Amino acid sequence: MSAHAQAVILAAGRGTRMKSARAKVLHQAQGVPMLEHVLRSVRALGVDPLTVVVGHQAEAVEAAFAGRGLRFVRQEPQLGTGHAVQMAREIVEAHAERTLLVINGDVPLLRPETLSALLDTHQATGAAATILTVDLDEPGAYGRVLREPDGQVRAIVAARDASDAERQVREINAGIYVFSVPALLPVLSSLRPQNAQGEYYVTDLVGLLRAAGHRVGAVKTADPVEALGVNTLSELAAASRRLGERRVAELMAAGVVIEDPQTTHVGLDVTAEADAVIRPFTILEGRTHLAAGAVVGPFARLTDMQIGPGAQVLDHCLLRESVVEAGAAIGPFAHIRPDSHVAARAKVGNFVELKKTRLGEGAKAPHLSYLGDATIGASANIGAGTITCNYDGQTKSPTQIGEGAFVGSDVTLVAPVTIGEGAYIGAGSVITDDVPAGALALGRGRQVVKPGWAEERARAREKARAAKS
Ligand code: UD1
Ligand code: CA
Repeated sequence: MSAHAQAVILAAGRGTRMKSARAKVLHQAQGVPMLEHVLRSVRALGVDPLTVVVGHQAEAVEAAFAGRGLRFVRQEPQLGTGHAVQMAREIVEAHAERTLLVINGDVPLLRPETLSALLDTHQATGAAATILTVDLDEPGAYGRVLREPDGQVRAIVAARDASDAERQVREINAGIYVFSVPALLPVLSSLRPQNAQGEYYVTDLVGLLRAAGHRVGAVKTADPVEALGVNTLSELAAASRRLGERRVAELMAAGVVIEDPQTTHVGLDVTAEADAVIRPFTILEGRTHLAAGAVVGPFARLTDMQIGPGAQVLDHCLLRESVVEAGAAIGPFAHIRPDSHVAARAKVGNFVELKKTRLGEGAKAPHLSYLGDATIGASANIGAGTITCNYDGQTKSPTQIGEGAFVGSDVTLVAPVTIGEGAYIGAGSVITDDVPAGALALGRGRQVVKPGWAEERARAREKARAAKS
């Protein structure tokens, strides 16, 4: 079925109501541009060709979606949604045997199942056009769907152009249409900008098809959320929240424990296995994955993280683009920066920052450390306050710490430097030279003890005072 469909996505509009310099379809919902959401739904149907009409900030939109197998057509100036469809006429005509899907670029909540049902109904009924509608308690500015007594669609009327009676209609146009191309082409050029906005409306095609003696049908979707068109930043935030809620519900249905769905934010590409636990006020973004038994949060933010089975990420951690293996423990208050790797059962404690650092199996950095560009062997112990000085103002240098090494508290490791396996570093050392395996290195001033010093000083002061008076 879908092999016989093509699609045109309308993404040229100015998005005036967003009050933003950025093109509307590039604004993100759940970290993904609005247009990307629509593309994902359409792509799932395998439509070809997939045409995007761009206009306002066309270069930016084309650049953001380059190399994705899309066909772009320009609409300049933007004279309305019907005018946008006219711009794609050549491509549409070249594949006239394929059913045409026309979709507003600002409906990020549309699901592929709904599109597929719309196409199926269209093909089953043999209508010239089939539109997606939904009943809304507050139909607001949406186009109203007017039906014939036999249930066919007679017209779509813009809220601004509707009579009082028409404005009472609660069934609205979702901005998603299917057309039979041979029926569409003859009426496409007959659109006229005779409305309050002075624009060419795609919705007027319904009336034109009816006048030409064609049938226009509709599919009413049960979930009003799907029709949510995003015109303002407030609607964008609402759509983003709904998308997140959907992903949270999917994960819970798959056995992921989410203690407080209301305060949990989960991106669309986040995955988790059954029995992973997400605690309240946690944000999971990008391609983050939680394995079974992993526990994350409360108050953690993870972006593009791989969390292994049974690993724990405790309160108030920020983790990015890194791997945490099975049974490892992170936090509270840890910061893991990109390209880090925490091996199985290793521990990263409070106020520890890792950057491009590998912490070996069972190794520990329990408190107050900065470990950057470091490779730390299995079972090594990194004392509180240890710092790798990986930057000399110009270049970054690596630190190697061997298996089972013991780095005492408050050690400064001036990179490049290598600490051998099983070596010991005394607390408070500044280490500038390599330390061989099994050695003890001390790099600090020797302690000096002066017995009776306090009493001596007191006596000296007393003498000085007596001499003055
Ligand atoms: C449109 C429908 C309305 C429907 C609503 C659903 C029309 C006339 N009205 O209204 O019936 O209820 O969607 O959300 O179609 N665009 C272009 N070129 C243009 C103008 C717009 O490509 O010249 C694109 C926009 O980028 C956007 C889409 O078309 O992605 C819809 O345009 P928008 O102005 O948001 O239409 P609505 O007023 O929401
Ligand atoms: Ca809109």
